[in-house]
Amino acid sequence: MNTARLTLDPRRRVAPVPRRLFGSFVEHLGRCVYTGIYEPGHPRADADGFRGDVLELVRELGVTTVRYPGGNFVSSYRWEDGVGPVDKRPTRLDLAWHSLETNAFGLDEFMRWVGKADLDPIMAVNLGTRGTAEAVDLLEYANHRGGSHLADQRRANGATDPYGIKLWCLGNEMDGPWQVGQRSATEYGRLAAQTAKAMRRFDPDLELVACGSSHLGMPTFGSWERDVLTEAYDDVDLISLHAYYQPVDDDLASFLASAEEMDRYIDAVTAIADSVGAIRRSTKKIMIAFDEWNVWYQSAAPSTPPSGEDWPVAPPLLEDHYSVADAVVVGGLLISLLRHSDRVTAACQAQLVNVIAPIMTEPGGSAWRQTIFHPFARTARHAQGAVLDVLRDGSTTTTDRYGEVDAVDAVSTWDDSTGEMSVFLVNRALDTPAEVTIDVAGAQVTDIIECVTVGGTDLHAKNTADGPDHAAPRPNGTARGADASVGLTLPQASWTMLRLRAT
Ligand code: AHR
Repeated sequence: MNTARLTLDPRRRVAPVPRRLFGSFVEHLGRCVYTGIYEPGHPRADADGFRGDVLELVRELGVTTVRYPGGNFVSSYRWEDGVGPVDKRPTRLDLAWHSLETNAFGLDEFMRWVGKADLDPIMAVNLGTRGTAEAVDLLEYANHRGGSHLADQRRANGATDPYGIKLWCLGNEMDGPWQVGQRSATEYGRLAAQTAKAMRRFDPDLELVACGSSHLGMPTFGSWERDVLTEAYDDVDLISLHAYYQPVDDDLASFLASAEEMDRYIDAVTAIADSVGAIRRSTKKIMIAFDEWNVWYQSAAPSTPPSGEDWPVAPPLLEDHYSVADAVVVGGLLISLLRHSDRVTAACQAQLVNVIAPIMTEPGGSAWRQTIFHPFARTARHAQGAVLDVLRDGSTTTTDRYGEVDAVDAVSTWDDSTGEMSVFLVNRALDTPAEVTIDVAGAQVTDIIECVTVGGTDLHAKNTADGPDHAAPRPNGTARGADASVGLTLPQASWTMLRLRAT
């Protein structure tokens, strides 16, 4: 049995829980939009063609924001193709995913869907094949009240009120060789700065995200962030991070500790951003939008887009089926994001439906929860109030990729308005349970509200449309104690949420 002692103190706050941490991502990719959120003719589709069963699951998942329309897709997208009468919209070749884009679903449909799902939109502009002018046009169409050509076009298309979209991504993964319109860091940094300045002439209060390098393994990583921010520091508010995790060579022990890599990535980008700020003697801090993250089996077929003559409509791409181990990793990644909530103020799990997603659908059939749905839903619902700094001490576990790491990782939140404290924990040791003692400094625990666990057994089990739900959180009856100390046992390779009442 491993042991861990966690100390948390409601007075040691990292930051208020950024609600935008529980964002997701809808890209025109595979079946995310078509037969995912949108499927006219489906028995559960509403008058707008939105699947009601998917909307119900999106609400249950507790998603707060959603990024749209890409992803790689945005880098060759013409937003104008997706507005106006549907029968007049052009069908186009989507160069990112080698698919046929019918444009039956576009900005106005997305905003209607966002309204029904009660989410805040995050809009990405195309800085791959397009530039500042088209970004400002999109902004005018979306956010201007009326009296100008594009705003009046939106009104004529049925949306009288402006959409008021606040958070905008200036392109996507612009250093990626796979990107249509790949750019050098300085070239992109200047374009991002110019586009940001133009967009702020329309609304100085927009929040703007510059692209970081596509992932930590890019040869451009580090110098890209520095060079982009050198050009655009004063004009943007956030820089994006993207990261996908998967086991390498079946090394499950390292995979369970993926949050180590996420921690290091966030810390590295924060340090780079702050060093650019220090050189400029700026008091401004650049925040982080971790606007693509998830488990993604990039080696698994059919992850690559079709090629050649074939340009299918909404082909099944990147449809990973997740295991219980993947759910434990997702729970661990959410712990890392929360721990950094003083700098990571927005995040998007990529993606929402069908494409590396917590929700799956069958065309014409049912919608169901993948294993990774559960830690996300519980964390999004119960991480409330402020994030608390958790001091960790105890057993370590050995990983090939990260060396010795704490066997138990954890973060906590505290909501003074309700007195509710939530502790999210992961036991990353593959074969050894952990006995955890939580010392609560400066508060009295009066009640254990709930303790649930995912994992521990059946690590390779996956959910299917017909069930059973292998990762549905099950009661963990080991939580005990009161006053200043609570104990519980974590099964090996598991994620747990403990909810307490404290005064
Ligand atoms: O989420 C899938 C793809 O991964 C996105 O389109 C791209 O931004 C990233 O490389």
